[in-house]
Amino acid sequence: MEALLARMTLEEKLGQLNQPRGLPSVTDAGPPEDREEQIRAGRIGSFLGIRGAAATKRLQRIAVEESRLGIPLLFADDVIHGFRTIFPVPLAEAASFDVAAVESSARVAAVEATAHGVHWTFAPMVDIARDPRWGRIVEGSGEDPYLGSLLAAARVRGFQGSDLGADDTLLATAKHFVAYGAAEGGRDYNTAEVSERTLREIYLPPFHAAVKAGVQAVMAAFDEIAGVPMHANRELVRGVLRREFGFDGIVISDHTGVRELIAHGVAADPQAAGVLALRAGIDIDMVSGIYLHDLPAALRAGQVSQTDIDDAVRRVLRAKYRVGLFNDPYRYCDPTREQTRTLTPQHRKAARDMARKSLVLLKNDGNVLPLSKQLRTIAVIGPLADDQRSMLGSWNGAGRAEDVVTPLAGVRAAVAAGTRVLYAKGTSVSGADSSGFDEAQAVAREADAVLLCIGEQSDMSGEARSRSSLDIPGMQEALARTLLAGGKPLAVILFTGRPLSITWLAEKAPSILLAWFPGVEAGHALADVIFGTESPAGRLPVTFPRTVGQVPIYYNHKNTGRPPQPDDNQDRQKPDKNTSRYLDLPPTPLYPFGHGLSYTTFHYADLRLNAQQIPQGGRLQVQVDVTNTGARASDEVVQLYVHENAASVTPPVKQLRRFQRIRLRPGERRTVAFDLGSDDLAFYGLELRPIVEPGKFRVLAGGSSVSLIEATFEVVPG
Ligand code: BGC
Repeated sequence: MEALLARMTLEEKLGQLNQPRGLPSVTDAGPPEDREEQIRAGRIGSFLGIRGAAATKRLQRIAVEESRLGIPLLFADDVIHGFRTIFPVPLAEAASFDVAAVESSARVAAVEATAHGVHWTFAPMVDIARDPRWGRIVEGSGEDPYLGSLLAAARVRGFQGSDLGADDTLLATAKHFVAYGAAEGGRDYNTAEVSERTLREIYLPPFHAAVKAGVQAVMAAFDEIAGVPMHANRELVRGVLRREFGFDGIVISDHTGVRELIAHGVAADPQAAGVLALRAGIDIDMVSGIYLHDLPAALRAGQVSQTDIDDAVRRVLRAKYRVGLFNDPYRYCDPTREQTRTLTPQHRKAARDMARKSLVLLKNDGNVLPLSKQLRTIAVIGPLADDQRSMLGSWNGAGRAEDVVTPLAGVRAAVAAGTRVLYAKGTSVSGADSSGFDEAQAVAREADAVLLCIGEQSDMSGEARSRSSLDIPGMQEALARTLLAGGKPLAVILFTGRPLSITWLAEKAPSILLAWFPGVEAGHALADVIFGTESPAGRLPVTFPRTVGQVPIYYNHKNTGRPPQPDDNQDRQKPDKNTSRYLDLPPTPLYPFGHGLSYTTFHYADLRLNAQQIPQGGRLQVQVDVTNTGARASDEVVQLYVHENAASVTPPVKQLRRFQRIRLRPGERRTVAFDLGSDDLAFYGLELRPIVEPGKFRVLAGGSSVSLIEATFEVVPG
């Protein structure tokens, strides 16, 4: 590699740091027809968004055979929750609390993407999000840094496999570094106002976990922290990410992130933006074209060093070596593999399995669900019942709407031969159209049960898709009201990429199954659960607020000096009610983190510890007995939380520290064991270093963050 570097001109070096879009856009450097010429001239190191064995091979051939040094290109793409076989959106996958399944999902995506010439994905997105107004909450794992860290590592393992040199593994990217999810007001790209403590406790852990799992790239975020945009944040990129975490892979800018330093107001012109970014430690300039065009002048002026440029180039070349491109630049462009590894029955099966595991039963009064397959007539109603596009969710790679099994199609395929399935759209997702209500009512009247498919369309969450309201859009709640008045057994199937404020629905609808956006196998997975082939067991990875006014609301909050009681909104005059409350709302969320029902019930008992006291640095064994007390087999997500009673820094009221998704037959009891160590009891002390302090702790176990049994122990000096 050093020999190659020594032969490179400055322009060829900067070319390696230049990543344009495959399909030219207005923000690109240079006219579109220049692409091939630029490759020949060594002015492009990697591409964003070119896929396909033939397309990548053609460009790769130009790079390898017609450029002076023959350095192969890297093809990067956003493979976020599947490539062609689209899996549930990442937030949904997080609801499965199934680390192995999430890893397999990323593995399938890698197998498909690599067969289409893709070497590098801009995933996993590991941003913690506590604000459902932020549309990109859909792309991450929710609000909890522990769950987020496990899934960040799982996805890295899934994408990168155990051998980056294999032909079905690709480079992963942990993004967006860092605190992008803390955007003020939940408005995308907005300023993040976070303390260093919150950064370290909440936003940084999933990045650290991804680095420990060997992630090969990290993408900078669009936000600024304390007046320093992340694309200029030397302290966090070179300081925390590289020096503290030991990350030695590529740091890539976000799309035009380098140029945006001008709009942020820290750079007066493109050259200044390039200087700030390179000095902060951004290796690749995605789409701005500034490194290529403006760094030569900056180097001549002594504003950047040759060493910084060379180091960045080394990291890019190293990545190319690692995926094997210097051995065989065409190894990812094989049309046969492209055919045989795409949307295979096994991949579809994995997507169906993952989707099933992601469904969260929020409510099920009177056991409306599961439905019998033998019912005479079932009405499937709502604007999302037959919407193929929306089932794919926010990023859908090479996914195609026509691959999708809609809820309606899934129900039709599952029912007994004599069962009639009726459909009415009722209304559209947004807008004020109620002209379909009559038809919907008529269809419901004929049915023995109603499945009402409402929520958000997939393009209402995702990048630049923030909302100021969390209500179900349009006339959909009015449609629900109309149908509920008909008195038929009714289950709401709720589609969304974010927590919604569904307080009214939660009160009135007997049953709500949260489907998120389940991917290509949506309908089959839903039918599996609706008809009880499988019991739902997904759990919320993020809190559902009662109204948008409660946001941010998350389970691992601080206690405050005046914690509210559950009924503290009841009596506004009482003087002892000066608590941390709202006058007009209970302090609790609508549905807490970790919540989710099944078609059975579970009983937790006998939470026991192997010691009442452990020394600092010691370990603790925890056991709890979980019994399936109902009549159906089901998975259960056994959750373990920890709380320290008093420490030198205010502790969160509880923190998830372990979980296990287990399966229990009716009547079966299982002892679930957990092993806790220093990391699980540590927090960032006053010096902002992880410490375990002597003190009393509570361990809490149960099936959600609010229904828990507990035991206590003490950490003693030692
Ligand atoms: C997004 C990134 C994405 C990139 C490339 C940006 O707008 O913020 O998450 O990887 O585009 O598509």
